[in-house]
Formats: sequence, structure tokens, C-alpha cells
Amino acid sequence: MTDFHGKTVLITGGCGTVGRACMETFLAKGANIALTDGVPPTSTLSLPPHVEFCLADVTDPDAVTRAYDSFINRFGHIDAAVLAAGIEGAVAPLEEISEQDLDAVWRVNVKGCLSWMQLCLRDMKARNAGSIVALSSISGVVGTPLLGPYTISKHAVVGLVKTAALEAGPHGVRVNAVCPGPIQSPMMERLDQAFVARDPNRLLGQRDASKSLPLQRYVSAAEVAAMVAFLCSDDAGSCHGGIYMVDGGFTAK
Ligand SMILES: NC(=O)c1ccc[n+]([C@@H]2O[C@H](COP(=O)([O-])OP(=O)(O)OC[C@H]3O[C@@H](n4cnc5c(N)ncnc54)[C@H](O)[C@@H]3O)[C@@H](O)[C@H]2O)c1
Repeated sequence: MTDFHGKTVLITGGCGTVGRACMETFLAKGANIALTDGVPPTSTLSLPPHVEFCLADVTDPDAVTRAYDSFINRFGHIDAAVLAAGIEGAVAPLEEISEQDLDAVWRVNVKGCLSWMQLCLRDMKARNAGSIVALSSISGVVGTPLLGPYTISKHAVVGLVKTAALEAGPHGVRVNAVCPGPIQSPMMERLDQAFVARDPNRLLGQRDASKSLPLQRYVSAAEVAAMVAFLCSDDAGSCHGGIYMVDGGFTAK
């Protein structure tokens, strides 16, 4: 599936930094795009004719089902799904985390991912074909101080992906996780500000990335999208149930 002409790729969190980069990467490879997000595209995000956008909050299973049905109505089926909707949640030590803080992140990052995955798995297994990539994070494989709810949720995404891979593999459906390191993005800017508010000695933005990542720079959204596109392609035919780091070497430490 290296050439995506005639293929349809679903992207959740499609108006975000990673979602937009994925859309551009798959469009360049000729794909149709089923784009969804909890907010509408901004006026700066122009959508070509073979992109269908559906507004759906991932925490509302009925809205997700309606959006999925509308995509199926337009495109017939989904060949690949990129599950990128996510929030960073509260930044605080664990003893200050409330039940609401945990629930808010869990509902978006885990249950929202599962809702879309369930719909895709049902049809992909029936067709005996398909590829799903869920966005986890470096926080899905290592602990992250002050980022408990997010870290717990991204570890759960890894568990979700591994379970889905074992269930769906025999039915010809591949499922993988991509774990980016810090990306130059509004999410990272919000996190940087919150971390510095908690720890004034922490460096901000690119200066922190330069200090904490072996490659000494932020990851780019385009680099994440390139990994996602590879995993969705036929070139990745034996990549299944894997956790793929795009993290500038962060987790090599
Ligand atoms: N930005 C980073 O540094 C970074 C690093 C590692 C992993 N990630 C992960 O990559 C994914 C994409 O991150 P991003 O940088 O593009 O963030 P982003 O904030 O730019 O995009 C996330 C998108 O998800 C959407 N979203 C949030 N809540 C939603 C909901 N309830 N229903 C539907 N859509 C909702 C937002 O509207 C937004 O468009 C996320 O899962 C994130 O956790 C990001």
C-alpha cells in the first residue's frame, strides 16, 4: 500500500499538529482522507475535494458512530486508520491529581481511541485487510514526572494496541503504536509552560529539547507522519503489534 491511490485513510485528531501532517503525507501519496476532530478545521486548513471532514467528539460514541457511517457512505470502506486525537491533561504530582483529572484524559486518549478502533476492527476483520496506527507517546513506555494522567493513558494505548494486534492479526489486520517524543506543537508549548511553572529550573521549548533529547532538537510532525504512513503501507507487511519510537533517542537513555 505504498501508493495510496484509491485507498481511504481515516485520521482522528485530524485538525491537530500530527493529524494535519498525516493528512498532508497521505494526500501526497494519493489517498482519500476521512478526517475527523472534535473541533472544525480552521480557515487556514484548506481541505481538497477528496477529503471528507466529520465533526465528532471521541468521548461521544454516538457521534463517533455517525461520523464513521458517514465516511463509509462516502468512501465505501476504510483501508487505514490513524488514531491521533488526544489531550495532555493536568500537569501536577500524583498526590494532587483528582479523579476528574484522570477521567478527562482517560475518556479522550483511551476510550476515544477504543471507540474508533472498535468500528474499524469490525469492518477490517470482515474484509480481512486493514492497518491501524494509534498515537501513543514516549509517555507510553517510560514514566513522566508531573504528567500522571497522560502517562497512564498512553501506557494504556500501548496495551490496547498489543491486545488488538493479537485479536486482529489472524484476520489480516495490522495494528501498531507510534510513540513520538516532544514535537514542536501547541500541545508541547502548553506542556512546557506548565512544567516551567512547576519547576522554574526547567528550560523552555527547544532549549529543553536540546538538553533532554540525544538528537538535541524537537521531533517534527512530518517525521511522525512518515512513520505512520510507512506502518500503514504494504512495505510494513510484517510490522504488527509493535511500538515504534520517533523520539530523537529519548528512550535510549
Ligand atoms: N505534541 C507532542 O509533542 C506529542 C508527543 C507525543 C505524542 N503525541 C500524541 O500525538 C497525538 C496528536 O498530538 P498533537 O501534537 O497533534 O496534538 P494537538 O493538540 O495538536 O492535536 C490533537 C487533536 O485532538 C483533538 N481532540 C482532542 N480532544 C478531542 C475529543 N474529545 N474529540 C475529538 N478530537 C479531540 C484536538 O481537537 C486536536 O485537533 C496525541 O494523541 C498526542 O498525545 C503528541
